[in-house]
Amino acid sequence: MENNSRRGFMGKAFGAVAAVGAIGSLVAMKKSWDPLPSVKAAGFTTLDMSVYEEGKMVTEKWRGKPIFVLKKSLQLMKEEETNPEAQARNIKIGSDNFMLAIGLCTHLGCIPAFRDDKNDFLCACHGGQFSASGLVTKVPPPRGLDIPPFRIDGNMLVLGEQGPEWKKMKENGVTL
Ligand code: FES
Repeated sequence: MENNSRRGFMGKAFGAVAAVGAIGSLVAMKKSWDPLPSVKAAGFTTLDMSVYEEGKMVTEKWRGKPIFVLKKSLQLMKEEETNPEAQARNIKIGSDNFMLAIGLCTHLGCIPAFRDDKNDFLCACHGGQFSASGLVTKVPPPRGLDIPPFRIDGNMLVLGEQGPEWKKMKENGVTL
């Protein structure tokens, strides 16, 4: 009787070990099915542009990089009326206007911080500053914040695809 229950216990224990082993190999198999990090990195990110709040800067992520998204206020749009450089960077989706940029300083790659009170970006590394539309307002950054490739699809923005609006920006030297 004691032997039986011992065998039963051993059986259960062995079963448990076998189950853990099976799960382990399933995890290993799944890992081998998952795309390589380099393949993942080449992926696209789709943003639903209808969810952003006016004047609130949001940081998204694409290919491991921070992506700044700012739905522009009417006030900001008014300020940009006399600034063709800012207008050239504007992204219009439906009746809304956006600033979109890779959130890495074009000087040496630090992540600038958005200052709500000043409505601009400050790079703490060497004091560079960018306007709310991503233009340099204080050196050392050599150019405005880069704009990631994007394609507009209704209310959605597909990061990583080169739509006509982005191609035009690139051709005109608005972004690298
Ligand atoms: S890295 Fe931003 S100012 Fe130098």
